[in-house]
Amino acid sequence: DPEMTLLTYLRRKLGLTGTKLGCAEGGCGACTVMLSRYQTHTHHYAVNACLAPLCSLHLVAVTTVEGIGSVARELHPVQERIAMAHGSQCGFCTPGIVMSMYALLRNNPKPKMADVEEAFHGNLCRCTGYRPILEGYKTNSSARILNAFDCKLCFCFLQEATSLFNPADFTPFDPTQEVIFPPDHGHMVKFKNMVYPVILAPAFIPELNNVSHTADGVVFGAACTLSHMGAVLKKAVETLPPHQTEVFLAVLEQLRWFAGLQIRNVAAVGGNIMTASPISDLNPVFMAAGCRLTLMDKDGSRVVQMDDGFFTGYRKTVLRPQEILLSIEIPYSKKFQLVSAFKQSPRREDDISIVTAAMSVTFTPGTDVVEDLRLSYGGMAATTVLAKKTANGLLGRHWGEELLQEACSLLAKEMTLDPSAPGGMVTYRRTLTLSLFYKFYLTVLQKLRLQVSEHSGCFSYPENIPPYLSCHLQAVPEGRSQDDSVGRPMMHLSALKQATGEAVYCDDVPLYENELYLALITSSKAHANILSVDASAAEKMPGVVTCLFADDIPGCNATGPIEHDETVLAHRQVTCVGHIIGAVVADTQLHAQRAAKAVRVQYEELQPIITIQEAIAAKSFYQPIRTIQKGDLEAGFKQADHILEGEIHIGGQEHFYLETNVTLAVPREEGEMELFVSTQSASKTQSLVAKALGVPANRVVVRVKRMGGVSGGRRAGPPFCRLLSPWQQTKTVRCMLDRDEDMMITGGRHPFYGKQGETTPPVGFLNSGKVVSLDVSYYSNVGNSMDLSASVSVSTLIRNSYSVANVRGRGFLCRTNLPSNTAFRGFGGPQGMMVTESWMTDVAQSLGRPAEQVRRLNLYVEGESTPYNQVLDQITLDRCWDECLTRSGYQERRAAVDVYNSQNRWTKRGLAITAFQKMSIFSVCVCVQAGALVHIYTDGSGLHTKMVQVASRVLGIPCSKIHISETSTNTVPNTSPTAASASSDLNGGAVQNACETLNQRLQPYKTKNPKGSWEDWVSEAAYFDRVNLSTNGFYKTPNLGYDFETNSGRAFNYFSYGVACSEVEIDCLTGAHKNLSTTIVMDVGNSLNPAIDIGSYFVFSGGGGFMQGLGLFTLEELHYSPQGVLLTRGPGSYKIPAFGDIPAQLTVSLLRDAPNQKAVFASKAVGEPPLFLAASVFYAIKDAISASRAESGISGPFRLDSPASAERIRNACSDRFTKLCPPAEPGSFTPWSVQV
Ligand SMILES: Cc1cc2nc3c(=O)[nH]c(=O)nc-3n(C[C@H](O)[C@H](O)[C@H](O)COP(=O)(O)OP(=O)(O)OC[C@H]3O[C@@H](n4cnc5c(N)ncnc54)[C@H](O)[C@@H]3O)c2cc1C
Ligand code: FES
Ligand code: FES
Repeated sequence: DPEMTLLTYLRRKLGLTGTKLGCAEGGCGACTVMLSRYQTHTHHYAVNACLAPLCSLHLVAVTTVEGIGSVARELHPVQERIAMAHGSQCGFCTPGIVMSMYALLRNNPKPKMADVEEAFHGNLCRCTGYRPILEGYKTNSSARILNAFDCKLCFCFLQEATSLFNPADFTPFDPTQEVIFPPDHGHMVKFKNMVYPVILAPAFIPELNNVSHTADGVVFGAACTLSHMGAVLKKAVETLPPHQTEVFLAVLEQLRWFAGLQIRNVAAVGGNIMTASPISDLNPVFMAAGCRLTLMDKDGSRVVQMDDGFFTGYRKTVLRPQEILLSIEIPYSKKFQLVSAFKQSPRREDDISIVTAAMSVTFTPGTDVVEDLRLSYGGMAATTVLAKKTANGLLGRHWGEELLQEACSLLAKEMTLDPSAPGGMVTYRRTLTLSLFYKFYLTVLQKLRLQVSEHSGCFSYPENIPPYLSCHLQAVPEGRSQDDSVGRPMMHLSALKQATGEAVYCDDVPLYENELYLALITSSKAHANILSVDASAAEKMPGVVTCLFADDIPGCNATGPIEHDETVLAHRQVTCVGHIIGAVVADTQLHAQRAAKAVRVQYEELQPIITIQEAIAAKSFYQPIRTIQKGDLEAGFKQADHILEGEIHIGGQEHFYLETNVTLAVPREEGEMELFVSTQSASKTQSLVAKALGVPANRVVVRVKRMGGVSGGRRAGPPFCRLLSPWQQTKTVRCMLDRDEDMMITGGRHPFYGKQGETTPPVGFLNSGKVVSLDVSYYSNVGNSMDLSASVSVSTLIRNSYSVANVRGRGFLCRTNLPSNTAFRGFGGPQGMMVTESWMTDVAQSLGRPAEQVRRLNLYVEGESTPYNQVLDQITLDRCWDECLTRSGYQERRAAVDVYNSQNRWTKRGLAITAFQKMSIFSVCVCVQAGALVHIYTDGSGLHTKMVQVASRVLGIPCSKIHISETSTNTVPNTSPTAASASSDLNGGAVQNACETLNQRLQPYKTKNPKGSWEDWVSEAAYFDRVNLSTNGFYKTPNLGYDFETNSGRAFNYFSYGVACSEVEIDCLTGAHKNLSTTIVMDVGNSLNPAIDIGSYFVFSGGGGFMQGLGLFTLEELHYSPQGVLLTRGPGSYKIPAFGDIPAQLTVSLLRDAPNQKAVFASKAVGEPPLFLAASVFYAIKDAISASRAESGISGPFRLDSPASAERIRNACSDRFTKLCPPAEPGSFTPWSVQV
C-alpha cells in the first residue's frame, strides 16, 4: 500500500508500539525513528515515522526505540539517562526524544550543546519542562556518553541538598552495543484524508539529487534534502571569500529555524519551492537572490528566474502540467551586495512564519548609493512577493535616514493587507514588514561600517546566555534508614520502560482478532438544527459495518460529568463545531474515517454565540452567578485616595496531552464490557458508559494503565467511549482521536475576561499602594455545556495572594457555542490570579511606584481572613517572598535592567516578581476522598512513585518490593479523579491507611521475631497463620464544610505558597522574547519526592507546571473563526513551549523547615501551583514593554491581554513604525479569528 506510513507499519504490522503517534503531522516528534542508508558511507538520520511512506524505505535500515535497548535485555545509555535524570514523566514523548538523541550520537559521538538543542527542535514534551532531559544527557562523569558539551550547565546542589540523580549510577556507554547496519528514501507526504493519484519517490532519481558547483553558484537537484543543502552551503561559506557567500548565509539563517531536524532530513528543496506556500522561508531568499530554476518535461528543459512572475497564485507556479523542477541554482553574491533573511514566528523553534523576508541590496562600487534592491516577503499575500515599488523608489539613494523614512512610508503603502486576511494579525504583519526592513537597514549600516546609533535594532534573538539550572532542595534528616524513601528523589517507577518503549499505553494494546474501528461524524456548524442525516453512501463503502446515531443509544443519551446537559450523540440540534452527531464502525481506521466523511448532514443554521463579549451582550449566562463578598465596598471606596478601572482577557489553553484520547472496548461474557481508557476518572467513565449502554455499572470495568499526559483533560473519559459498543456487544472496537479531532471536539482551559467594576467603582487604593476596596467581575467562556465550569468559576473567585478588606467578586458563566471547556491544571485559579496581578500592576504604574513594593504591601499575613472568611494560619508567603528576592538578587537585577534599558533602544529587559497562594484540595467536598487497595503477596507487595514511597515508609520495606498495578474500577470503586494536585494527599492518605492496617496485622509476628525479615513475617508466619494480607484503605480530607449561602465554614484544608521572580528580554521590533532567568521559591511542606516536586516546578510533572504556565501566558493561542471553527488544530498551528523556551537560568528552591501538619508525612500538594508562577514571566514582559513605551514618551497603565504573544508585545511597543500601520476600525470588517 503506497499510502502506508512507516509508523502504521511499525505499530500495526510489526507490533512495535514503542514508536508513538502524537500528531501525524510531523509536529511533535513522538514518532521519531532513525533511518540508516549506505551511499559512500553509512548515514544515520532521524525522521518522523508518521510522515515517511513505507514504500520509500527501499535499501534503508530502520532503528526504533526497541532496537537500541530494553529493560529485559540491556538498556542503552541514552534510554537509561533520560529515565534516571527524571526526564520521563508520562513518558509518551520519551521514545521520540531517545531516538533523536540516539541518531545524533550515531553521527556525532561528541556533540556540542548546540547540536543537542538542534537535534531536539522537532521534539515536544508537555510534562518534563525539558531541563531534566538536557541534564540527563549532559551528565559529565566517568560513565559519560556526552563528554564534550560546551555549555556551562551546572546542576549545583547546596550542601544541604540531596542530588536528584547520581551520574555515577549510569551504565557506561559501550559502543559495541550499537546496531550495525548492512547497508532515500522519499519525502514527507501527509496522507491523512488525502487521495494522491500518483506518488513518486524523487530521492531515487540521481539527476534530482546532484549537487554541482558552477561559475555562478551552486546547483542543487530539486530532491536534495534541506539538511544536505545546509551542509553543502556551510562548507562553501567556510571556503569561499565572504563577499560571495551573502546569499548562502541568508539561506543558512532560514534553515536554522526551519522545522525540526527530522523534517529537514527528508524535506526537499524542490518540495519547498513547489509547495508554493506563501509562508515558505526559503522562497523569499531565492527570490531576493534571483535564483535560477531549471524546469523539465519530456520535450526538454527551460530555465526561469525566481522572481515575482514565478508564483502565479495561491500555491500555483508557472510550471506546466507535465513539467517538473529539475534543479535550483543558488548564486554567489557579488562584491558590494549585502543580503539578509528574517523569520518571525510565534515560537522560535520548529514553527511556521507569520512574516518571513529576505532583502538584498547592491551598492554602486565604493559608495553607499543603492544600485539594486530586492525586498521579498512571505506571509503578506497569497504568494511570496517582491516589494517592487518600494525598491524602485529607493534606487540611486544614499543608505541613510532619509532612505529609511522613504522606505517605511513606501512599504506601508505597498505591503497592505485586507483586515480580514487569512492568518489574522494584520496590523502586526504590516508593522513587521517595516520592522524587518529597519533591521536590514541597521545591519547594512553596520556592514558598511557607518555610524549606527541604534544598534540593538539589529540584534536577533538573544541567545548567548549561559544556561544553568540550580536546585536548592531539602535535606533528608540524618539517620533516616536508606530503606525509607520518603523525601528522597526517586526515579519515576515506569521511567525505564517508557524510555525503551516497553511501557504500554492504551493504543499499544495489540489488535484483537476481527477488531473494528469507530470514527466520528461531527458537526461543522456551531449552532444549528439538524434537518436530515444521510448515511446511505457511507453505509455502502468498503468495510463499513454500521452507522450509529442518537436513536441507536440503548440507554440514556443525556450525559455529562456533573450536570447531564450533554448528549452522547447530538439529537436534532448541534451546539458547537465538533459536536458528535454519529459514528461509523468499520473494519479499519481508514475505512471508518472515509465513510464518516461521506455522511451528509443538512443544517438549518441558528445564530451562534462564540465570544465572551457576545455572551455578555446577549446575557447568555448559565446559573448560578456566584458572588463572594466581604467588608463594605462603599466604605472602602470612600476611604480610597485613588480609584482605577481596568480589564484583561486571558485566552484559553489546549491540554495538548501528547497521547490523544483513546478507548478500546472489549466485550466479555454476560454483557460485561471491559474498557481500556485514557482517563483520569475510571469511576466516572464507568458510570457514564453504563448509563449510555443502559446496563448496571457492575457490567462495565474501566482499566487505566497509564496516560500520555493529563492536566485535567481526561476527567470523564473521552465522550466517544460512551458509544463504542452500544449496538452489539460482540466485537472489540477501538477509537483513537486524530490530533485535529481531539483539539476540535474537546474543550480546554476556560478563556476569561476580568473587568474591574461594573456597577460600583473598581479598584480603590491608598497613596501607599494599599488596596482597600475591589469589585471584580470574572466572565468565563464555558461553551455548550456546564461540565465542571461552576467549580472552575468559584476557584477563580477565591484564589488570590492579596488581602483586600472590602471586596466583591462575581463569576459569570457565559453560555456559548464552543466545545465545553473543562478542568485544566489550576482549575480557573491561574486566570483569577492573572486578573489580580493585572490590577496590582496598574495600581503600581498609576502611582509610579515599583510593582514589587506594592505587591509586597498587599500580601496576606498570618491571621488575616480570606473573602470566604477562612482565617489563614501557618502562612509562609512572606518567607517565600523574601527568600525569592534574596535568591534572585532582585535589587541588583533591577539596577542592571535599568542600565541595560537606558543603553538599548530596540531591545528591552523586564523584571517581575509574583506570588501565589493555592488551596489544598477541591472545594467540591464529594471529591475529597480516596480509596486504595493494598495486597501483600508472599513474594512482594502490590500505586505511582509517591504512593510507593508512602507504602514503603509505613510498611518499613524498600520500594523495590512494591509494585503498582493499573487503576481499575473492579479493584477500587468510586475513585476520585487524579486532579487538582490532590492525588498525593488523597491517595497517599488512603495508602497510609491501608498499610497501617496491614502493619497492625503483622505486628504480632514482628514482636515475636524482632530480628526477622519481611519475608519471615509475611511468608513464613502470617500467611501460615491465615492472616488476611489484603486490605482497603480510605481517606477523606477532614473538617471541610464551606457554605456559599452564608459565606462561612472551612473551605480548605491548607494552603501552598510560592513566589517567582523572572527576567526577560524583548525585541521591540518583532515582539520576540527570551526568558532570561526565573527564580522560584516554593513551600511544599516536607517534600515526598524532591525529584518529582522539583520536577513539577521547572518541569510540570504529570502534565503541567511552570512550563505549561509559560505556554498559557506567553505562547499558546487558540484561534477561532467568527463562526466558531477552531483554526488551530495541531502542533503546526498551536504552539506549546519547546526546548528553547525554558528560562536560560532557572533556580528552584524548596522552602526549608516548613512542615505541613495537615497532609501525609507533612507534605503539600505540588502539581498545580507552579503553573501560576509563570505569570512572573508575563509581568516581566509587561515591564519590558513599559520601558519601550517610555522611549516613545508613553507612561502609565496599559492593557496587555494574555498570552503575551509576539503580536501583542510588538503592538504594545508603540513607536514610529506602528504609527504607520494603524489597525482597521473594529466593526468595519470580519476578522479571520476572534478573541473568544
Ligand atoms: C512539521 C513541518 C514543519 C515545517 N516547517 C516549515 C518551515 O519552518 N518553513 C517552511 O518554509 N516550510 C516548512 N514546512 C513545509 C516543508 O518545507 C515542505 O512541506 C517541504 O519542504 C516539502 O518538501 P517535500 O520534499 O516533503 O515535498 P513533497 O511533499 O514531496 O512535495 C510538495 C509538493 O511539491 C511537488 N514537488 C515536489 N518536488 C517536485 C519537483 N521536483 N517538481 C515538481 N513538483 C514537485 C509535489 O508534487 C507536491 O505537490 C514544514 C512542514 C512540516 C510537515
Ligand atoms: S506523530 Fe509524528 S511528529 Fe507527531
Ligand atoms: S513526559 Fe514528555 S509528554 Fe509526558
